[in-house]
This record gives sequence, C-alpha cells and structure tokens, in this order.
Amino acid sequence: MLFLRLVLGSIFIVCCLTTLTNGATLAKDEVEALKRIGKTLGKNGWNFGSDPCSQHDSWVDQSTRYYANNVTCDCSFNSSTICHVVRIVLKAQNLSGTLPPNLNSLPFLQEIDLTRNYLSGTIPPDWGSSTRLVSISLSGNRLIGPIPAALANLRNLTSLVLENNGFSGILPAELGNLSKIEQLLFLS
Ligand SMILES: *[C@@H]1O[C@H](CO)[C@@H](O)[C@H](O)[C@H]1NC(C)=O
Ligand SMILES: *[C@@H]1O[C@H](CO)[C@@H](O)[C@H](O)[C@H]1NC(C)=O
Ligand SMILES: *[C@@H]1O[C@H](CO)[C@@H](O)[C@H](O)[C@H]1NC(C)=O
Ligand SMILES: *[C@@H]1O[C@H](CO)[C@@H](O)[C@H](O)[C@H]1NC(C)=O
Ligand SMILES: *[C@@H]1O[C@H](CO)[C@@H](O)[C@H](O)[C@H]1NC(C)=O
Repeated sequence: MLFLRLVLGSIFIVCCLTTLTNGATLAKDEVEALKRIGKTLGKNGWNFGSDPCSQHDSWVDQSTRYYANNVTCDCSFNSSTICHVVRIVLKAQNLSGTLPPNLNSLPFLQEIDLTRNYLSGTIPPDWGSSTRLVSISLSGNRLIGPIPAALANLRNLTSLVLENNGFSGILPAELGNLSKIEQLLFLS
C-alpha cells in the first residue's frame, strides 16, 4: 500500500513538474489576436486546440527556402510562464486575404514574412505603430497602393522587402529616416 502511494506520488510530482516547466502559454489576448489575423489573411489550418507557442503540428513546420509555416514565440516572460509572439513566417501558403490592420495586437512582434502568397489590398498605415518590427517581407503578392509614410516610425526596421507587387506612387521621403535599414527592395 505504502509502495503504491509512493509510486502514485512520484508520478504526480513528475507530471506537475513537467507542466510547470513546459507550461508557458501565449498571452490570452494574443490568442484572440492570432484568430483575427488568421481570418484576415485567409490562413486555414492553425489549430487553436493546441497553444500557438507549443510548436505543435499546425504552428511550426519544416521549412524550405520556398515554403514556411511558422509562428515563433518568446516564452521567457514573467518567470517563463507567459509567451508573446515574436515572429510570423507564412511563405507560399496560398493566403488570399488582406493584410491585418491590427498588428499592434501582437505587441512583441519583430518579424512578419508573408512572401509569395495571393494577398491583395494595401499596406495598413497602422503598421507604423508596431514599433518593435525589425523585418517585413511582403514580396510576391498582389498588393497595391502607396507605401505608407507611417512605416518611417519603425525605427528598428532593418529589412523592408516589397518587390513583385503592384504598388504605386512615390517612395515617401520619410523612409530616409529609417537609420537601421540594411535591406530595402521595391522592384515591381
Ligand atoms: C520553422 O520551424 C522549424 C521547426 O522549429 C524550423 O526547423 C525551421 O527552420 C523554421 N523555419 C523558419 C523559416 O523559421
Ligand atoms: C507579467 O508581469 C508584468 C509585470 O510584472 C505584469 O504587469 C503583467 O500583468 C504580467 N502578465 C501576466 C499575463 O500575468
Ligand atoms: C497551395 O495550392 C497548391 C495548388 O492547389 C497546392 O499544391 C499546395 O499544396 C497549396 N499549399 C499549401 C501550403 O496549402
Ligand atoms: C529597438 O532596438 C533596441 C536595441 O535592440 C531596443 O533596446 C529597443 O527596445 C527597440 N525598440 C523597440 C520599440 O522595440
Ligand atoms: C526625419 O527625422 C527628423 C528628426 O526626427 C525630422 O526633423 C525630419 O522632419 C524627418 N524627415 C522626414 C522626411 O520625415
């Protein structure tokens, strides 16, 4: 009897420790934000039955140079109990929606890569308030309209890749203020 209790006790402890160490989950409001963003982009297949930061099935995938399907998180917040989305890479995923205006709802986002999809519409000027962004790639879509001057607010931006779309208008002079920029591609 004592032996059985010891065994059950150890199993219990092992289970609890496992949940405690691997249990960091995405902040609730960011889960809702991802649902909205997925809907706007036309992203099918994100499985909200598992935590978006769990690296399970629908949230990370083997990538090639051409194809990628990853949501990456930083789970070190609040003593490694809370995760925030830092990277969304959806390359060649047949996305046929539009760009989400509400990127701000992922306040820790540093990189968004939506290369080679069928996204249409314009770049929302609101993206200029996602000030942690370091890298934006939208090349190979069906985007149109002007490049918003508001992007000049992204002081940490090092890479802005917009080639192979249908953008029009002149490049805003304000972008000259992006002091960290290393890569800027606009060919159409
Ligand atoms: C996507 O995640 C997988 C698994 O972690 C990794 O092997 C791959 O390099 C990642 N690809 C990109 C483009 O981040
Ligand atoms: C994480 O910690 C910060 C500061 O300690 C606090 O303001 C915030 O509410 C915490 N976040 C969550 C989701 O508990
Ligand atoms: C995109 O569509 C093509 C053609 O229908 C299909 O072969 C491919 O598997 C699709 N890719 C994804 C990621 O769904
Ligand atoms: C910009 O980068 C610096 C240095 O990496 C960092 O300290 C700062 O917090 C970043 N700014 C934003 C708005 O993320
Ligand atoms: C660039 O930034 C400087 C200082 O913040 C500002 O005075 C200037 O008007 C900006 N230039 C443009 C074209 O936005």
